[in-house]
Amino acid sequence: MENKNIFLIGFMGSGKSTIARLLAKKTEKELIEMDETIENEEGCSINEIFEAHGEEYFRDLESKLVERIAKKGGTVVSCGGGAVLREENILNMRMNGTIIYLSATPETIYKRVCHSTNRPLLNGNMNVEYISQLMEKRLPIYEKARDIVVDVNNKEKSAIVEEILSILN
Ligand code: S3P
Repeated sequence: MENKNIFLIGFMGSGKSTIARLLAKKTEKELIEMDETIENEEGCSINEIFEAHGEEYFRDLESKLVERIAKKGGTVVSCGGGAVLREENILNMRMNGTIIYLSATPETIYKRVCHSTNRPLLNGNMNVEYISQLMEKRLPIYEKARDIVVDVNNKEKSAIVEEILSILN
């Protein structure tokens, strides 16, 4: 898995950022947090990008970033929860990478995101029912995109990282 990328996909709050950070350290790969990279490059928050330019503009930025990462290699990527919504992004991820889906129940997700305000899709929709509905729509996409699935419910972060490493090796 030398120069390959590792893409972590999954719903908002499934733990992609934390697991990516730990995984990058263990594998000595470069860490890329997609949302953070986009915020830094645009000089404003995800909320502000959605408000000022709309979701499609944000999705375009995501697609361009995935394309750049695919060419680069050797990274662990914490993808935005919607980064697999465009087929072209999945194809770019596959080109030189392994796609790992962190699977969590709506209840687990709610517990993790209920105090967050920087997720425009959940602002004003912060409840288990809405999360379940959006997850229903996303599930087949995550399942189709992934090479590997890891259930993250009720597991320690370190155990999740070990599980991923043992699958990859
Ligand atoms: C989104 C997930 C967010 C962020 C944006 C849209 C989504 O990332 O990219 O708010 O469509 O699921 P996280 O999954 O890191 O919260």
